[in-house]
Amino acid sequence: MASKDSVSRTVLVALVLCVICSVIVSTAAVVLKDQQVANAANEKKANILAAAGIEVVNGDLDAAFAQVTPMLVDMSTGKYSDAADVNNYDDRKAAKDPALSVALTGDQDIASIRRQAKLRTVYLVQGDNGIEKLILPVHGYGLWSTLYGFIALEGDLNTVAGFGFYSHAETPGLGGEVDNPRWKAVWNGKQVYATGSSEPAIGLIKGKATADSKHDIDGLAGATLTSNGVSNLVRFWMGKDGFAPFIANLKAGEA
Ligand SMILES: Cc1cc2nc3c(=O)[nH]c(=O)nc-3n(C[C@H](O)[C@H](O)[C@H](O)COP(=O)(O)O)c2cc1C
Repeated sequence: MASKDSVSRTVLVALVLCVICSVIVSTAAVVLKDQQVANAANEKKANILAAAGIEVVNGDLDAAFAQVTPMLVDMSTGKYSDAADVNNYDDRKAAKDPALSVALTGDQDIASIRRQAKLRTVYLVQGDNGIEKLILPVHGYGLWSTLYGFIALEGDLNTVAGFGFYSHAETPGLGGEVDNPRWKAVWNGKQVYATGSSEPAIGLIKGKATADSKHDIDGLAGATLTSNGVSNLVRFWMGKDGFAPFIANLKAGEA
């Protein structure tokens, strides 16, 4: 019989351990899959609510989210669409599917996203006087990663009500400062468009924006490349190839 310290015994023990561990990890992954999907959906809801400035009372996410109406927008017309079921539509999956997305030309693709889903989910908070908040999904490349987030507009469809990312892999302390609540708060009250223009004027500048500037956002210190990425992605999504046609239709009551 091989001794306890023999090479074959050591290899055998290591192999058995590997098999046991991989079975445990795979079982956990399969068993927890539904929970992970539910957590991701809740995380997204929480971020939409945070961007819209809607408070979650007693941790009841669904009650808070009842104030929000998701709608699909056809990006080629800037009008609402019922071509898919909004509750089962996955924007990120659609953006990767050639049948459900369009390729962007180099000139168009300032956010470095390559393809754009034909339909996009937007979120509305309605009040007695019409739209109170419009929450739009935005994404684009920073330095290391694609940043995914939301920009919320007030009912004038120009003033920023909230901004934030829910997924990115920029460096903590540098590009990762996009998550800093103090930086996110700088966005509130800024104007996306200059009066009479449908070209986005909002964007990050190097250094600190002056208190009276309507469109400038503080740049992220030591993270110019992430800052440029954030400017580009916001300008893309608020521009003519993004949501500007939809916003114009909403203003004209023709969405
Ligand atoms: C380890 C490491 C991580 C970095 N992470 C980021 C980042 O997340 N975002 C970014 O814009 N720059 C990052 N940088 C810095 C860039 O390489 C570049 O120097 C910087 O964007 C220039 O910005 P500044 O002109 O504001 O200093 C990182 C650098 C290093 C060495």
